[in-house]
Amino acid sequence: MTSILFVCLGNICRSPSAEGVVRAMAADLELTLDSAGTGPWHVGEAPYGPMQTVANSRGYDLSTLRARQITRDDFDRFDLIITMDKNNQRDVQAMRPKGSDTPVRMLSDYSKKPGTDVPDPYYSRDFDGTLDMIEDAARGLIAALRDQEQ
Ligand code: 4NP
Repeated sequence: MTSILFVCLGNICRSPSAEGVVRAMAADLELTLDSAGTGPWHVGEAPYGPMQTVANSRGYDLSTLRARQITRDDFDRFDLIITMDKNNQRDVQAMRPKGSDTPVRMLSDYSKKPGTDVPDPYYSRDFDGTLDMIEDAARGLIAALRDQEQ
C-alpha cells in the first residue's frame, strides 16, 4: 500500500488535479491519495471552477475535494510527497520534521520533462496545458508504482 500527498500552493488547481487524475488512472491500485497546499488562503474550498471544468471535460471529477494546508504530520502520514514546482519543494522541505526521511519529489520527475515546474494555471490561465503535463507525469508515476509492486 502506498500513500501519496500531492502539494501545490493553493490546493485548488494543480494538486487536486494530480490527485484526481492519478485516482482515475490507477483505480486498480491500492493507493491512498490526498492533496494539500503550502498556503492557507483557500482552506475548505472546492477546486477552482475553471480547473474543475477542464478536468471534467477529460473525465476527472474534482467536485468533492476540499483544500487544506500541509502540516508537519503529513510527513508521517504519507509514504511520498509530490510537489508541483520548485517553490513548493523548498517550502515543503523547510517543514520537514527532524528525523523524517519521507521522500519529496517533483511531479515532473515522472514526466517527459524532469525538473520542470508544473505551471500554475491560476496565473497562466492555461488549464489545458497544465492538465496535459499532469496527465503525462501521472502515467509515469503509475508506471513506477506498478514496477514497485512486482
Ligand atoms: P494552485 O494555484 O497552487 O495550483 O492551487 C493557486 C491558486 C490560488 C492561489 C495560488 C495558487 N492564490 O494565491 O490564491
